[in-house]
Amino acid sequence: MAYETLNVEIEDHVAIVRLNRPEALNALNAQLMSELADCLRSMEVNDKVRVTILTGSEKAFAAGADITEMAEKSFVDVFTEDLFSAETDQILRCRKPIIAAVAGYALGGGCELAMMCDFIIAADTAKFGQPEINLGIVAGIGGTQRLTRFVGKSKAMEMHLTGRFMDAEEAERSGLVSRVVPAKRLIEEATAAAQKIAEKSALTTMVVKEAVNRSYETTLSEGLLFERRVFHALFATEDQKEGMNAFVEKREPQFRDK
Ligand code: HXC
Repeated sequence: MAYETLNVEIEDHVAIVRLNRPEALNALNAQLMSELADCLRSMEVNDKVRVTILTGSEKAFAAGADITEMAEKSFVDVFTEDLFSAETDQILRCRKPIIAAVAGYALGGGCELAMMCDFIIAADTAKFGQPEINLGIVAGIGGTQRLTRFVGKSKAMEMHLTGRFMDAEEAERSGLVSRVVPAKRLIEEATAAAQKIAEKSALTTMVVKEAVNRSYETTLSEGLLFERRVFHALFATEDQKEGMNAFVEKREPQFRDK
């Protein structure tokens, strides 16, 4: 399917989905969000895709929700349409791993979109921020909740209250991104990580996502019980036998997602 606001390439089981509204630093408008939700839904059912990389341009992952599109909306408008809520639910429902590869600005909804992915690899040019306060609004697709869980209350509160940006080095130090790479190598590094994941059993990667994400939703004892039960359940799979037999036989495992 062809999209106007996205470029999609699929190679070796890895889809690279590139936000493509260069004239507005990839600001998230209704069309882009709808195309992105549709695209990620189609990646879920595409057998050629095992991992998706979500990225933007060298200058911007995404500079936030499209301000020109939002400016004249009323309370009733945003409440009734529940702005971007259906699209973000769709992104969060994805069971295949999604890596955010962020260069340049990831601001407002752009930062929130990156945080919805399973992990973030940042270029050394990346800048993260929640500058909604400068517009007289607050984050609306997860920023007050997710940024706080990633970097802790003090830093999240400061970012939301002042609107200041965090550079890549600070983002890594504070746990927002998994690592920082030179901008020129961003896609290469994200692709290498994606390919590593693509070699694993798809069953196991789905379970990893469910179990790690559960840690944000539940108590420690409930989360540990959930982990224990999915750990047990994986012994019912052929891939567990294959993984362990391959280790014992000193060969590479050939997972079959069964
Ligand atoms: C619409 C945007 C935009 C945005 C940039 N542009 N960000 N258009 N919405 N969020 C447009 C500019 O108007 C400009 O268009 C072009 O992109 C280039 O941007 P410049 O400002 O000229 O670039 P620069 O000087 O390099 O500054 C980059 C920047 C700045 C620091 C990222 O653009 C900026 O502050 N943008 C807004 C960031 C922001 O406030 N994000 C939060 C949005 S609210 P023209 O036509 O003039 O060339 C949000 C809420 C989410 O995200 C919740 C939703 C439910």
